[in-house]
Amino acid sequence: MLSFGALTLLSLLVKNARAGTTIWSGSFNTYPTVATFDNWSWSNEVGEYQWYIHGSQPTSHYLALDPSYKNPADTSETNGLKITIDQTSNWNGQTMERTELIPQTTANLGTGNLFYHFSIMRDSTNPPESSLEHQIFFFESHFTELKYGVSPNSTYLEWHVSSSPQWGVSWDAGTWLNFAYDIDFSGGSVGLWFSTGSNALTKVHANIAASASTNSEDFHVGVLRIVPDSVVENYYVSGVYIESGSITTSVGSGGGSSSSSSSSSSSSSSSTSSTPTSSSSSSVSSTSTTSAAGATQTKYGQCGGTSYSGPTTCGTGTTCVAVSPPYYYQCQ
Ligand SMILES: *[C@@H]1O[C@H](CO)[C@@H](O)[C@H](O)[C@H]1NC(C)=O
Ligand SMILES: *[C@@H]1O[C@H](CO)[C@@H](O)[C@H](O)[C@H]1NC(C)=O
Repeated sequence: MLSFGALTLLSLLVKNARAGTTIWSGSFNTYPTVATFDNWSWSNEVGEYQWYIHGSQPTSHYLALDPSYKNPADTSETNGLKITIDQTSNWNGQTMERTELIPQTTANLGTGNLFYHFSIMRDSTNPPESSLEHQIFFFESHFTELKYGVSPNSTYLEWHVSSSPQWGVSWDAGTWLNFAYDIDFSGGSVGLWFSTGSNALTKVHANIAASASTNSEDFHVGVLRIVPDSVVENYYVSGVYIESGSITTSVGSGGGSSSSSSSSSSSSSSSTSSTPTSSSSSSVSSTSTTSAAGATQTKYGQCGGTSYSGPTTCGTGTTCVAVSPPYYYQCQ
C-alpha cells in the first residue's frame, strides 16, 4: 500500500539521515562504468573525481565497479570501487606505484571542522603486501593519512599524523573498516573516528595538533605503494564523502545523491570563494608530486628516498622531511 511504502521510505530516510551537511560526495553512483572516470581531464573537469594519478594501462586495469565491492552496510551506493596496484602503476615517471582519485569540486574542503568519511576493505585475494610500505587516503602534506606495511606493526592499518603513528588496527581480510578523519582546519588538529562493518563510528582518537590544510585538490582517495614491486594488490572502497557540521556516525548514508558542490557554493556559511579549482591550481598539486627536472624541488615534492633520482634541494622556506624513510622524503 502507498502508506506502507511511504512509511518505509520515511524510516529509510530517518535511518540514513546525515547529521551534518555533505559538502562533497565521492559516491560512485554517478559512475555507471569505470570508463566514466575517463571523462575527467584537465580541460574537462567533470564528475566527482579527478582521475590522473595512475599507470599507463587502461582505466579498467586499475579500477572496477561492482555491488560486491562496497560495504554491504552502505545502502546508498550501488557499487563499491576496486582499486588495483601493480608493477604498471607508475605515474609521471615516478618509481612509486599509485592508483588515486582526487575530489573534483568547487567546494572548499579545507575550512572549519570537516569529517572525511571512507570505508576500505582488503580481501584474501591480491592482499596488500605487508612488507611494502603504503600511503592510503592521504593528503599531499601528510598531516594525516593511513599507512600499511610499516614496521613494527606491518600488518596493521595505521593512522598517522605528520608521519607519526597514533593508532592502528590489524587489517584482516574481508572486514570493512570505516573511518572519518575529524579535521579542524581552523584550530589545526585532527582526530579519528572508526568502526567495522555496519557499526556506528566512534571516536577512537582525540584530536591532536597538526598543520591541517588542503587546497581542496589533494585528498588522495586511493593507494600509493612507496616501494616498487610486481605484486598485484586490490583494495575495496565505498562511502567516500566529506561532511561539515556534526558527524554522521551511521555507516551507509554517505553516498547517494549529493548536495555536493552546488549546495556548498550556495550555502551561506562556507561559500568562501578562495578555493582553488582551476586547472592551474590543480597543476600545483600535480607538480608537487612530480620529480621536477630542476635543481630545486617545490613544496610537497619529493626530495629523497630509495631509488629516487630527482632534485634533493628544497625551495626557499621548505626543508626536506622524512615522510616515509627510507623510501620517501618531501619538501615541507
Ligand atoms: C562521458 O563521456 C561520454 C563520451 O563523451 C558521454 O557519452 C557520456 O555521457 C559521459 N558520461 C558522463 C557521466 O559524463
Ligand atoms: C602496534 O602494536 C601494538 C601491540 O599489538 C599495539 O599496542 C599498538 O597500539 C600498535 N600501534 C599502532 C600504531 O598500531
